[in-house]
Amino acid sequence: PVRSRLQAAAVRGLTPFVGRDKEVDKLREVLERAGAGHGQIVAVAGEPGVGKSRLLWEFTHSHRVNGWVVLETTAMSHGKTISYLPVSEMLRGYFQIDERDDERRIREKVTGKLITLDESLRPALPAFFQLLDVSVEDPEWQAQDPNQRRQRTLDAVKRLLLRESQIQPVLLIFESLHWVDSETQAFLDSLVESLPTARALLLASYRPEYQHTWGSKTYYTQFRIDPLAPESADELLHALLGDDPGLRPLKQVLINRTEGNPFFLEECVRTLMETKALTGERGAYRLGREVQAIQVPATVQAVLAARIDRLPIEARRLLQAAAVIGMDVPLNLLHAITDAPEDLLRRSLMQLQSAEFLYEVSLFPAVEYTFKHALTQDVAYSTLLQERRRALHARIVAAIEHLHAERLAEHVERLAHHALRGEVWDKAVGYLRQAGAKAAARAANREAVMLFEQALVAVQHLPEGRASMERAIDLRLDLRPPLLQLGHLERVLQLSQDAEAMAEKLGDDQRMARVYTYLINYHYLKGEPELAVEYGERCLRIGDTVNDPALQALARGYLGYSYHAQGHYRRAEFVLKQNVEALESAWGQAEGPQAGISFVTSSGWLAFTLAELGEFDAANTYLDRAQRAAEASGHAYTHTIARTLAGLVWLRRGQLDQALPLLQKSLDACREKNLDVWRPIPSSLLGLTCILLGRLDEGLRLLEDGVALTEGLGVRAYLALWTTHLGEGLLAAGQLERARAVAQRALEQAQAHKERGHQAWALRLQGEIAARGDRAEMNAALELYGRALALAEELKMRPLLARVHLGLGQLHARAGDRDKAQEHVAVGLGLLREMDIRFWSARAAEELMGLGHLFIVARHNVELYEYLKQEFAGEPVTVMLDRRQAERRQRGDEAAGEDRRKGDRRRQDTDQALRLP
Ligand SMILES: Nc1ncnc2c1ncn2[C@@H]1O[C@H](COP(=O)(O)OP(=O)(O)OP(=O)(O)O)[C@@H](O)[C@H]1O
Ligand SMILES: [Mg+2]
Repeated sequence: PVRSRLQAAAVRGLTPFVGRDKEVDKLREVLERAGAGHGQIVAVAGEPGVGKSRLLWEFTHSHRVNGWVVLETTAMSHGKTISYLPVSEMLRGYFQIDERDDERRIREKVTGKLITLDESLRPALPAFFQLLDVSVEDPEWQAQDPNQRRQRTLDAVKRLLLRESQIQPVLLIFESLHWVDSETQAFLDSLVESLPTARALLLASYRPEYQHTWGSKTYYTQFRIDPLAPESADELLHALLGDDPGLRPLKQVLINRTEGNPFFLEECVRTLMETKALTGERGAYRLGREVQAIQVPATVQAVLAARIDRLPIEARRLLQAAAVIGMDVPLNLLHAITDAPEDLLRRSLMQLQSAEFLYEVSLFPAVEYTFKHALTQDVAYSTLLQERRRALHARIVAAIEHLHAERLAEHVERLAHHALRGEVWDKAVGYLRQAGAKAAARAANREAVMLFEQALVAVQHLPEGRASMERAIDLRLDLRPPLLQLGHLERVLQLSQDAEAMAEKLGDDQRMARVYTYLINYHYLKGEPELAVEYGERCLRIGDTVNDPALQALARGYLGYSYHAQGHYRRAEFVLKQNVEALESAWGQAEGPQAGISFVTSSGWLAFTLAELGEFDAANTYLDRAQRAAEASGHAYTHTIARTLAGLVWLRRGQLDQALPLLQKSLDACREKNLDVWRPIPSSLLGLTCILLGRLDEGLRLLEDGVALTEGLGVRAYLALWTTHLGEGLLAAGQLERARAVAQRALEQAQAHKERGHQAWALRLQGEIAARGDRAEMNAALELYGRALALAEELKMRPLLARVHLGLGQLHARAGDRDKAQEHVAVGLGLLREMDIRFWSARAAEELMGLGHLFIVARHNVELYEYLKQEFAGEPVTVMLDRRQAERRQRGDEAAGEDRRKGDRRRQDTDQALRLP
């Protein structure tokens, strides 16, 4: 129905079209270019009533668009919270669906048309069904997470249009974008990217307050539609009023007053006719009284209000009731909410039509009216007193429920809108929650948040009691996923705390535990691992008491990640292992996406933990399990988690060729599927990989992204690590000063958020940077490396330990202390060998060659001796086996630093195997 407002007006005779020659010419040009396969966007912007829609209407109803498929749609003033409203409307037009069609018929029409167009579009069917509110019975579609479904929906509509444009050029008209919802916006943004090679023209109209990002496209044209020029306004008045010379002063007054806004002009003329200031008939009027006695209000709203005020009481009440229904007014609904007898209703409707407040838009299957203009509806609505407005909204809820009892699902947004304004609080909460859930299921997070927030307002009006309190808690829980996806962490915290207090009051353990899961998550992300652990433990206790495996898994998972963040790697290893085993036996691997995500995340983070400890073989077994589970789930997010962590482990192990494709794929998936919360991780890891491969520019960009994205989300967990990576990149790129500042920031972040492992990495980096400085900095470098060494030993971070030793070796070499240098390099190399970390082994070997010729390996480490011998065959390095091992124990102890007693057994063994003479 929205498509045909001007169509309906045209039936009664539109004001003759004046001016706009330049715009029409330009549109014709752009259409030609688009028709030749160079897709175009035209934006038509201007004040309300200035003639945007009329221009587009004139253009699309001319012979110029013969041979084009024309698809028109518009955003609506009540539509900001209704995801995809204009897109669904457009599809209804494209598939020729009308009100009478039931689900079966809609399915037939969509399937038929789509398959005829292109058989390969079949997989897109569920997306179209969802947009048209037809239930989707496709297990594969159901199994997808909302983000994936969202992506597929956006793709489906885009592909449909692009495919259609290969057969016939497509003219798309999206009107009134100032009311657009964020999903339709996302659709348009994505369409715009594919436009330049399509035979398609996108015409968009909006009022000046709307903003978009297409301005920089070469295939974009913008028209600002100004009010009519005085000659054009005069022409318009001439057509409406005729050319009686006595009218001239009045015309001048009107043009001045309205400043050439055609809608304002039209309404003024109507007023003058209605008040008999003009007499005669259309096209041939004369002044009915002195020009000086004629009042023209200052705004079009005031003109409309005065006109409404002059209507007979029944007609006025009817118009007001219609305005409460909305821009489009089905007769049966209007009838149901007014008490007027049938014949009076008909008479009033006739009056409203002849005064051009309303137009009749469709006679079949059901009669429907539409307001002449959005401003008309606005003003009619605003002339109502609050109490009557409320009562009407409430009646509309009851009427829709009655009229559409069988298909309420399609109307939840409308019901929610009216129930809220009708202050039918109980229903408002119910419908808003349903509408919010629908939006969340489509990953329309902004709309979901708006709807749930409105429901929170409504719930406050419910009578106090347990049931209301439970609903208030549940709504807060509903709000959390979309808020989190949008990065509104503070609001998540506030809602969780409110909910905690309420659940406590109710003594409701189950709800309390669900609240805890959010608090754990919040504190974890905010870089407050201690609080996360505290809530994790509470949550786990409840999970154990009520024996809820899902809850236990969630709590244990976060405990694991929090311990990891704190650098308690052994403790993290313990709970994560427990979790992995429990999840595997409780659910198997293929049962539902949530179980899959928990399993994969726990296994992946366990592998990460083991990698920090240098236990790569064990890490790999968990990565394999994660990979298998991800494959079984067929779930993009899960896959991405598994891949990212596998990439991380390979990176820690220095096997860059293995890490690179995994991380690249992960990052691509994050971009494509809008996995915003995860994206910083592959970004930073891939960045570091690129740096190590010598791809500095690309690497730095990704590293910067990793940090900026994390900060943008308000996430603090692991920020120190991503910042350290950035510092490494800067150092590699020779940007010493920036590297220094970034490394300092990384250290401070790690300290602030109690991430001790990341402190150790940051200290090593600082040591590395200081070691590049002048001789005066040498001591500082030693000190920093020493602190890194101590921490790494305490936390048993063997890969880091090895790297610190290499750094120390280099430092001593520069200072000319060859003995110490050899000692450290040898220890580092031994560790790297033992863990099979190749990349830095190769570097260490180079280092050794730089140092000189003699390298002595402790007697019982024959394997290392053999390896080195082979490695240095043909090089000016002699490798010897040490026979005086025992005497040297003390010196070795010194070399490893004073914290060595704390070091683990395995490392001591290695050190002993690498005693130097
Ligand atoms: N160039 C024109 N010649 C004659 N009449 C016009 C012209 N432009 C607009 N009108 C008339 O003015 C009225 C308002 O125009 P229109 O609906 O196109 O405004 P709009 O800019 O789309 O407003 P909104 O921002 O509310 O969508 C309509 O009745 C239309 O027929
Ligand atoms: Mg318009």
